[in-house]
Amino acid sequence: MYNRGKIIIGLVIFGLIITAPFLLNIVQANEPPEISLDTPVINQLSEKECVESADFMRSQHPQLLNDWRDQVVREGKTVYVSSSGKEYEMSLDNSCLQCHSNRSEFCDACHAYTSVDPYCWDCHGGGIAK
Ligand code: HEC
Ligand code: HEC
Ligand code: HEC
Repeated sequence: MYNRGKIIIGLVIFGLIITAPFLLNIVQANEPPEISLDTPVINQLSEKECVESADFMRSQHPQLLNDWRDQVVREGKTVYVSSSGKEYEMSLDNSCLQCHSNRSEFCDACHAYTSVDPYCWDCHGGGIAK
């Protein structure tokens, strides 16, 4: 003698428990990190552009920063010419963080979302290399 209703309820609960992680993942994957471009310097730009295209920056900024550091520290160069011909000082503090002065709502927000923790801030962004 068994109770059909209880077995079905039991199966439904079991099903929810084993699929919960997947359901939660779907919800989280659809929530992009909130990053803000609302800074005094960016608000004053006539063209709201980064050093390179937003697409390029999204995927290549770690490499770009690496190149900048090598150029400055090893080769003594300080000026970066972008692919559109604009000139920027190759500096984390004086370029990136000049425009993106809201580090916590920009760099940090995105890094927290993607679980990246750059060690740069020990020295840059108010640290000893500023
Ligand atoms: C231990 C301290 C320290 C850490 C950590 C560090 N840097 Fe630096 N970095 C320096 C110093 C010192 C300079 C030379 C500063 C100068 O010449 O103006 C420098 C120069 C640079 C430069 C070129 C000049 C400038 O003003 O930005 C870049 C770009 C740079 N670092 C990027 C990075 C990035 C990206 C990280 C993390 C992945 C990082 N650094 C981590 C100390 C550090
Ligand atoms: C002259 C001001 C300025 C400088 C300097 C600058 N940015 Fe930007 N950045 C912007 C603007 C404006 C955007 C938005 C561009 C767009 O949406 O087309 C942006 C976009 C980005 C994005 C893409 C964000 C997204 O939409 O997903 C990243 C990543 C980024 N910047 C990182 C950096 C880094 C790292 C540096 C230094 C190497 C830097 N930026 C230097 C103004 C600047
Ligand atoms: C749109 C999201 C996004 C924004 C905005 C963003 N980053 Fe990143 N960043 C990432 C991701 C994702 C990685 C790791 C993946 C990779 O290496 O491409 C990363 C990696 C890095 C690394 C290399 C760290 C390591 O340990 O390898 C540095 C340095 C860095 N970001 C600096 C910055 C700075 C400085 C800013 C703000 C000016 C910034 N990022 C804004 C997404 C972002």
